[in-house]
Amino acid sequence: MRHNPVLLEEVLEHLALKQGALVVDGTLGSGGHSEAMLRCLGPQGRLVGIDQDAEAIARCREIFGSDARVTLIHENFRNLGRVLRELDIIAVDAVLLDVGTSSEQLADEQRGFSFQLKGELDMRMNTEVGFKASELLAKMSEKELATLFYEFGEERNANRFARTIVEARRHHPIQTTEDLIGALDQALPEFLRSKKGNRPVWAKRHPATRVFQALRIAVNDELNALKEGLTAAWERLGTGGRFAVISFHSLEDRIVKQQFRKWHDEKCGKLIFRKPIVAKREEILNNPRSRSAKLRVVERMT
Ligand SMILES: C[S@@+](CC[C@H](N)C(=O)[O-])C[C@H]1O[C@@H](n2cnc3c(N)ncnc32)[C@H](O)[C@@H]1O
Repeated sequence: MRHNPVLLEEVLEHLALKQGALVVDGTLGSGGHSEAMLRCLGPQGRLVGIDQDAEAIARCREIFGSDARVTLIHENFRNLGRVLRELDIIAVDAVLLDVGTSSEQLADEQRGFSFQLKGELDMRMNTEVGFKASELLAKMSEKELATLFYEFGEERNANRFARTIVEARRHHPIQTTEDLIGALDQALPEFLRSKKGNRPVWAKRHPATRVFQALRIAVNDELNALKEGLTAAWERLGTGGRFAVISFHSLEDRIVKQQFRKWHDEKCGKLIFRKPIVAKREEILNNPRSRSAKLRVVERMT
């Protein structure tokens, strides 16, 4: 199923795109936000679409193939400065980052993003670079794993999970989502283990959720990429240009909130609203992924 863009109306309203504008979508995914933005830009507009996942770029080539207004680039948005320089673009009118994973990535068991599917523990968004999650699990020390789960997963059982993983990998390498869930289960009381249907209501969220989040953040260096992407986008945003970021967990949102506030306090930016926009009830019912989405928008003043 094609990724359903979150907070779409809100993004369009607050980016306030004008006909003929030049826009960057730093997280193309399946091009849902881009498609809607292109409708606002008219025939003279231009959209530079970036994604670090080659499969997202291939999907978007199918969607936008013959649209001369669209340029698609397989890159990390942390390198936005270089991308725009190579395209001879000095300033842009709007930037959107909708960070996190797409429905297509989550649904592909070969990618290992979802603990609900059986598959290899890869988790790289760009499969041409970096280490797979299984490689991190094989080489990190118990202390490093505990720090990772605590800092990137905000996981209270970080030490216990690190210990059980180190114990499990002595007998068998942790290469699949099943291997990891099996190892984590060993650290949990029977009633919290992964077997569906028998967990108490208060423990609906499987403890593996936070471990998977932590591993994905580490594999893709997501928090540093976000910090660098914010700066790179800001440097290329023209005066009056707007920058929208949608984040999906508190670690990302904190980075966006602090950076946007800083620009606002330094009077080079203006926050369009102070509290982040969240999805309305109807959207959450239609698209559960939108439940944790937070949108922040800042305008460049100088
Ligand atoms: C939530 S999806 C975007 C969905 C998109 N807005 C749509 O409407 O289909 C996030 C996408 O951003 C990409 N992504 C995440 N971090 C990235 C980064 N640092 N650089 C480039 N792409 C990134 C992922 O590969 C994924 O395809």
